[in-house]
Amino acid sequence: MKDSVSAGEFGGASKVVEGNSVSSGSPVLIRRATQITLLFVGVVVLWMCVYSSATPFGFRAVSNYFNSASLKGSIDPNLECVLRKASMKGKTVIITTLNDAWAEPGSIFDLFLESFHIGNQTEKLLKHLVIITWDQKAYARCIALHPHCYQLETKGDNFTNEAFFMTPNYLHMMWRRIEFLDTVLEKGYSFVFTDTDIMWFRDPFKQFFKDGDFQIACDFFNGNSYDLKNLPNGGFTYVKSNNRTIRFYKFWFKSRKDYPEKHDQDVLNLIKTHPFISQLKLKIRFLSTAYIGGFCQRSKDFNKVCTMHANCCVGLDNKVNDLKILLEDWRKYMALPANDKKNSHPSWSVPQSCRTSFQRGNKKNNSTRR
Ligand SMILES: *[C@@H]1O[C@H](CO)[C@@H](O)[C@H](O)[C@H]1NC(C)=O
Ligand SMILES: *[C@@H]1O[C@H](CO)[C@@H](O)[C@H](O)[C@H]1NC(C)=O
Ligand SMILES: *[C@@H]1O[C@H](CO)[C@@H](O)[C@H](O)[C@H]1NC(C)=O
Ligand SMILES: *[C@@H]1O[C@H](CO)[C@@H](O)[C@H](O)[C@H]1NC(C)=O
Ligand SMILES: *[C@@H]1O[C@H](CO)[C@@H](O)[C@H](O)[C@H]1NC(C)=O
Repeated sequence: MKDSVSAGEFGGASKVVEGNSVSSGSPVLIRRATQITLLFVGVVVLWMCVYSSATPFGFRAVSNYFNSASLKGSIDPNLECVLRKASMKGKTVIITTLNDAWAEPGSIFDLFLESFHIGNQTEKLLKHLVIITWDQKAYARCIALHPHCYQLETKGDNFTNEAFFMTPNYLHMMWRRIEFLDTVLEKGYSFVFTDTDIMWFRDPFKQFFKDGDFQIACDFFNGNSYDLKNLPNGGFTYVKSNNRTIRFYKFWFKSRKDYPEKHDQDVLNLIKTHPFISQLKLKIRFLSTAYIGGFCQRSKDFNKVCTMHANCCVGLDNKVNDLKILLEDWRKYMALPANDKKNSHPSWSVPQSCRTSFQRGNKKNNSTRR
């Protein structure tokens, strides 16, 4: 719970009070009052950082109070706290988003967390995982299981239920997510964004390119990590915080207006060759499905796979069904003696329900890869 950075912030707030008492008349009083308020906010931020996981609902009430109070702009001490506490060195966090349907016991969220426990050396990554919740119920479930949860303000939207693919609610959630990730970049944090229906079996950081700003998983990877013709999947990205990525996310978010009724991934496909992106000199890299795989194109080698995504799959129940089988496949592999791991070449027994659902969904519409 100790957090040297937040202690520093507290010190900063008190310095403001010391530094400024030379004017005269009533402005001084006003400034004093402002300074005291700032100090008070500093203390509360510190207090919230320390106690957030202990008293979540009290904490929510306080943070709501400050959101509606006169704190200017988008300063959100709560998010700052969560990011800071979860950060690994180099200001990097792992982020996922969660709604109530996926957070239900026995559903996707449980499988997601389980994968970190049974993966090879992935358990230690959990302390860097920030879970962004869309509704109060998902938040409650999150804090029961995990130390870093953040409830996204969604201004009256109701994201509680399963957001069916391509409904207005679904689209809104996807775009809100892009906007939120831009905020994270602006705060100076790099991130790995992962959908919750992605199972983590190995640390993917070793597979990221040193020289990439924006690295993204693929539904179908053609063997060339630079080739813009790869079919990306926005469910898994590694993004470094810098001026190029911040501007890129703003551009991506803004482009939704040019392509109404398209989701972020389709729009990304449409803008990835836009001249603005090359002007930005944004370094885009596509991640190989050999490591960052999914049901569209599976990671063939169990000795290499880092993550597996329930993509090319329609419907929550189908995802849950197949991800359970996927975890079982992995457990069997992990239980093999070291020699057999290398030599026995196991293969995945999924997709099953996902394949059928996807073929059915595909007839109606071609853009159901998510
Ligand atoms: C797990 O990770 C360790 C350390 O990187 C490595 O030595 C070991 O071979 C890995 N095991 C498997 C099954 O990948
Ligand atoms: C959200 O929708 C669900 C079901 O439609 C409903 O039970 C719940 O009360 C709603 N929540 C809010 C905050 O409106
Ligand atoms: C980003 O832009 C700001 C302001 O334009 C500049 O001061 C800063 O050096 C830039 N940072 C990087 C990493 O390019
Ligand atoms: C199917 O895809 C088209 C074009 O991608 C889109 O305009 C349409 O809204 C989609 N229909 C449904 C039912 O999702
Ligand atoms: C859907 O995909 C099939 C096969 O990939 C293709 O032949 C067809 O033209 C596509 N339909 C639409 C509406 O894009």
